[in-house]
Amino acid sequence: MNFHILTLFPDMVMDGLNTSIIGRAAGKGLLSIEAVNIRDYAFNKHQSVDDYPYGGGAGMLMQAEPVYLAYEAVAGKLEKAPRVVYLSPQGQTFNQQMAEELAQEEELVLLCGHYEGIDERVLEEIVTDYVSIGDYVLTGGELPAMVMVDAISRLVPGVLHNDVSAEFESFQDNLLEYPQYSRPEEWRGKKVPEVLLSGHHANIEKWRREQSVLRTKERRPDLLEKCELTDAEKKLIEDYESEK
Ligand code: ADE
Repeated sequence: MNFHILTLFPDMVMDGLNTSIIGRAAGKGLLSIEAVNIRDYAFNKHQSVDDYPYGGGAGMLMQAEPVYLAYEAVAGKLEKAPRVVYLSPQGQTFNQQMAEELAQEEELVLLCGHYEGIDERVLEEIVTDYVSIGDYVLTGGELPAMVMVDAISRLVPGVLHNDVSAEFESFQDNLLEYPQYSRPEEWRGKKVPEVLLSGHHANIEKWRREQSVLRTKERRPDLLEKCELTDAEKKLIEDYESEK
């Protein structure tokens, strides 16, 4: 999968994404990440890419032409027009399902705005998806683009060492992940739950599923509404609630 990030701050995104798991995956050729500097497509001698908004108002806007030229430089090399995500608090909220859907794309362009945003005309021309990473306002689209690249990349086959680990974790089945423990068996007086030391796989699976259900009830009850629980699991929640 190939990511193309259109940005005024290429170092920021590349420094952030070139480390750890995503950097390793890029090194292995499982994915590629290129940051295209919109300023390289400035069309005046001062290399400026922003201007005042018509009608007045606070701040500056990114102009249409440099953004369009940066997009063309990417799209011109591809066989078909790519999906272009504009990161904006006005977009649809990013979630795991969206990450899974976008992970199917071969090419993905992420457009990062800055200042007060981007001239609407170029957005109308090139953007296919408007995506927000949450209901708060950041200074630019770079951090949201990095969040998206991270969440999508780890779903690309081969990126995680353990292929099953992307499946059995938070948000699979709309349940949160169960608690996990490593050595030592006792840490500052706190013991690892007995069942995990038993070697009894069926019991361990049962315990983990129960922990997932109860943890979701406790921390993200909104997710449980989208979840198919067995009668036994519903009873487990009732018992837990009445014990509280
Ligand atoms: N740009 C500024 N704030 C943002 C947000 N919350 N999500 C995506 N892009 C943004």
